[in-house]
Amino acid sequence: MKTQVAIIGAGPAGLLLSHLLHLRGVESVVIETRSRADIEATIRAGVLEQGTMDILSEAGVGERMRAEGALHHGFELAFGGQRHRVDLHGLTGKSITVYPQHEVIKDLVAARLAAGGDLRFEVGAVSLKDIDTGKPGVSFTQGGERYAIEADFVVGCDGFHGVTRPSMPGEGRQDFQRVYPFGWFGILVESAPSSEELIYARHERGFALVSTRSPTVQRLYFQCDPADHVDNWSDDRIWNELHLRLENNDGWKVNEGKIFQKGIIGMRSFVSTPMQHGRLFLAGDAAHIVPPTGAKGMNLAISDVRILSEGLDSFYRTGGEALLNGYTETALKRVWRAEYFSWWMTSMLHTFQDASAFERQVQRAELDNVVASRAMMTALAENYVGAF
Ligand code: FAD
Ligand code: DHB
Repeated sequence: MKTQVAIIGAGPAGLLLSHLLHLRGVESVVIETRSRADIEATIRAGVLEQGTMDILSEAGVGERMRAEGALHHGFELAFGGQRHRVDLHGLTGKSITVYPQHEVIKDLVAARLAAGGDLRFEVGAVSLKDIDTGKPGVSFTQGGERYAIEADFVVGCDGFHGVTRPSMPGEGRQDFQRVYPFGWFGILVESAPSSEELIYARHERGFALVSTRSPTVQRLYFQCDPADHVDNWSDDRIWNELHLRLENNDGWKVNEGKIFQKGIIGMRSFVSTPMQHGRLFLAGDAAHIVPPTGAKGMNLAISDVRILSEGLDSFYRTGGEALLNGYTETALKRVWRAEYFSWWMTSMLHTFQDASAFERQVQRAELDNVVASRAMMTALAENYVGAF
């Protein structure tokens, strides 16, 4: 089959790219290894920057997000037995929305299908071909049949473990990476939110985060050993740990409830450059990963495909390739700022087992500085809302 843009992966990056291209009259085919039900049920991110909300709204897929997402004008930093509010809106004029990633996925899949988009789920044996030519291609299997797509461009939106990045020629590539010695244990809980705003807590026992999903569901995370297993954590043990890390003597308590989902994620910072080889591009987690502390991953994926869709649009309207050839440089500016911010938030809020007594004191002093200085608090808020 032939198309203009072959897109590998139906995460936020792949689906939104396909939709943005459709709105500009460019056709694409999206192939995805998992089922529709699976991608629509996988629990991941929750925080959308204002810029992400704007892009989704402009693309006509923001209606449910605006109706059901929760607008947050600030969040809290908790450490040393006290909570300090970061007034995002007061400091930057911008806010964030808590709306689950799998709901964004549902909205995008529905929009693509309503527009007659070509989405192929449960494909296998995906491989790239002719990537050094003007007609790169992708081959895959589906339902026992083998298919080939011939395209003008191929875009790998297939996440960190996908096939596209390893298919890019090694020469001239440079990867940057940091793997953190801890992970996050995430749970979903049937209960009213413990707090109206998110709470990012530093504690000697490890970081903890209070987030929400809806008026009846909470999302909570706590730092853990990345090699640990969910079966080692009974509900009682989880609640005990969350109470210890999050509460002090001001009377506020974490609301308990039925835990109906548990998972552990590892944490890394990673950037792979360049994000283009001829007519093959990488977008989102396929090209870069951030630790989740700054809530940036999905926002970066969406920002990448906005830039790429403008380059592809310009190519199809004018034949010019300048925007496309500037994609890596344009995208990486934002990516590196988010890498920096995510590393900073992670370093400031987690317990590092091998930190010296001096390093622990300096880490605490950094948090004291952030909450004491309007300038530092503003810098944090600007990065969090993505005000650049
Ligand atoms: P993905 O969502 O990974 O999508 C890639 C898709 O490609 C998948 O559906 C996969 O099945 C498919 N695929 C893989 N290989 C192939 C193949 N060979 N062929 C075809 N398809 C393939 N980000 C935020 O912005 N805010 C947050 O609050 C936040 N919190 C997070 C919390 C957690 C617990 C986790 C795990 C992540 C969080 N993130 C957050 C990060 C965010 O979820 C990711 O950055 C985002 O999903 C990246 O989107 P993507 O489309 O690039 O990749
Ligand atoms: C959520 C995830 C994050 O990584 C974060 O920093 C804040 C909130 C969430 O899933 O709600």
